[in-house]
Amino acid sequence: MAMTKPEQAGLGDELFGTRLGEVRNGKAGPEKGQFIPPPDVRDSDERADALPEQEEFWRAPVRFGSVPVESTPLGWDRRRGFRKLYPQVMLPTQVVERVSFGHPELEPNRLFWGDNLHVMRQLPSESIDLIYIDPPFFSGKQYNVIFGDQNELRSFTDIWDGGMPGYLVWLNARLYEMKRLLRKSGTICVHLDWHASNYVKIEMDKLFGYQMFRNEIVWDYGAKATQHKGHFQRKHDVLLVYGRSEQSKFKPVLVEYSTATLRERDTRYNHADEDGPYRMTTRRAPDGSKYRAKVYLKEGVYATDVWRIPIINATSKERIGYPTQKPEALIQRVIEAFTEEGGIVADFFGGGGTTLVAAQRLGRRWIACDQSRVAVAITADRLANLVDQMALEQSGKSFTVPDFIVEHWGIYEAKRLSEAPQDQFRAFVLRAFGAVIEEHDEGIHGYKGAIPIWVGEPDQKKAVTAADVQAFANAVRKTLRYKQDNLRDGIMLAWAFRPDAVEAAERLRRLERTDLNFVRLDMIRIDSARFREHVSALSTQNADYENFLTFVQPPKMEVGFKRISSRSYKFDVSETLVLNPGAKIINVQWDFDYGKRFSSTPGYSFVRGSNKEPELQSEYEFPTNGKKRIACKVQDDMGGEGLWTAEIEVI
Ligand SMILES: C[S@@+](CC[C@H](N)C(=O)[O-])C[C@H]1O[C@@H](n2cnc3c(N)ncnc32)[C@H](O)[C@@H]1O
Repeated sequence: MAMTKPEQAGLGDELFGTRLGEVRNGKAGPEKGQFIPPPDVRDSDERADALPEQEEFWRAPVRFGSVPVESTPLGWDRRRGFRKLYPQVMLPTQVVERVSFGHPELEPNRLFWGDNLHVMRQLPSESIDLIYIDPPFFSGKQYNVIFGDQNELRSFTDIWDGGMPGYLVWLNARLYEMKRLLRKSGTICVHLDWHASNYVKIEMDKLFGYQMFRNEIVWDYGAKATQHKGHFQRKHDVLLVYGRSEQSKFKPVLVEYSTATLRERDTRYNHADEDGPYRMTTRRAPDGSKYRAKVYLKEGVYATDVWRIPIINATSKERIGYPTQKPEALIQRVIEAFTEEGGIVADFFGGGGTTLVAAQRLGRRWIACDQSRVAVAITADRLANLVDQMALEQSGKSFTVPDFIVEHWGIYEAKRLSEAPQDQFRAFVLRAFGAVIEEHDEGIHGYKGAIPIWVGEPDQKKAVTAADVQAFANAVRKTLRYKQDNLRDGIMLAWAFRPDAVEAAERLRRLERTDLNFVRLDMIRIDSARFREHVSALSTQNADYENFLTFVQPPKMEVGFKRISSRSYKFDVSETLVLNPGAKIINVQWDFDYGKRFSSTPGYSFVRGSNKEPELQSEYEFPTNGKKRIACKVQDDMGGEGLWTAEIEVI
């Protein structure tokens, strides 16, 4: 039925049969026994016709009377978009690990450690089929600190300052990038709960277009309700689904029959042939005649937008042990509905990697990101374990899983960088410094604007010498800009400069007063504040940026162990030295059967004591005696990660 506004249909002031203020027979309102005619429905319908369709209500007008209606998402600047509040920082990613499953010819899946906004800004447009995210719900500070990393803690200022609008601005900037990354046929699914879902829906209407809204899926997580004061207990989450365009893909998903339908199935589908159980029904042909037809039993019923899937609780088999872990079945259903086999699934708030596990099982490619180093470590470990398990399930049958790479954005491992091949190291340093690689002038590695740049050795122990300075000065003198434009500067980037190198540069500069042969060389250490000036300048606008382009050291691993009984050992990492100032250990993982790659023994990752602190000691009973290879990984809360391996004789 068409909606009518009271004042238009004239009902609001005629609810009691008289116009308000009208006095009949000296009395307000109807008299006893008086007949009150029903409102003229024809009349009100006609007037309702003048009202716009519901869709028109939905479309936000520019003004509502004298009040301007915001049609752009919160935080959007007309000229600079979200880059006004969150300036762009282009930094390289550092590949720290390639977890191999034996198919180096295939393009690897990608797991990023870093702030998703900046990671996404470096990914190509229209490259992803489905984005599922489960961001912090705006439900309380403590609840949202899951892994305890410094980066996780830091980002909360950004999320929580400014209350709900602040949260929406923070999320909008990210949703905007996600829209850019989605293929036209793609879909986004944002997992939230009652705290923010209604506010985010309005922002998503503005970002994606209200016409692109597909579903509000209610995840009824089936947890037992307890008595609650003041309102019903809240036991569901909400998944907001938007298509990227009209072309977004969807495939209905069949779910298992409920018990009631199963009963029905038993009695009605009482025939069977090679195609399965069926029942007979009567159909009408186009000529009006009737005929009998078989109706086969579907493998389930079509899922609606209310999904009852049990939450991960203390006894769930798939439980990893961190709060907010979502069930694989939930995300699996999302992936099945909105992607095809081989499609690319992304989760930029990856947590412990549930989305990737579901994607891997369903044969999809994936890409993920988390700002917590521990989350990334847990995810990598979980994926390696999953592929081992899939191999067992396939029992020898060939199956193909692409490798995955772990990439760091913004915070880098100095030690690993110093072990990189020279060309990779150079490329990394130039990119981080905002320079480009250009090697057409001998002895010059790149340019920042017009200034020639030289990059030192990857090895941190190899400091720059006076001879290096001299050689670079000669290279600068050979450039056209030196000869024609009289431009005489250059920049040397390195881990360290020897005193004789500093002296040599001074000498070259002093020539400025006496000799036209001078060159002005600037020496910048890679781990210094000057190196990261183009990033730190942005920190005044956004505290989050303070940490970008910094380096971390792995912990110095010390592992002790002793035999406590037959095949049982106690391991201890408490003597491990954390090298990043102010950092502490936040996670320990053990692999008591270390093979080609690290994959923690079940129950030996993210173990917390009663005080919620990580367990630094662990006991393990080996199944058999003999030589065993074991490994231990430790992460600190700044992002440093150490690996220790050993071979022990178990008796
Ligand atoms: C609710 S958890 C996701 C849980 C996940 N769905 C699962 O089942 O394991 C949210 C995650 O988002 C991460 N996160 C929050 N802000 C982020 C940001 N700006 N960039 C990347 N990750 C972020 C947190 O570290 C946390 O791991």
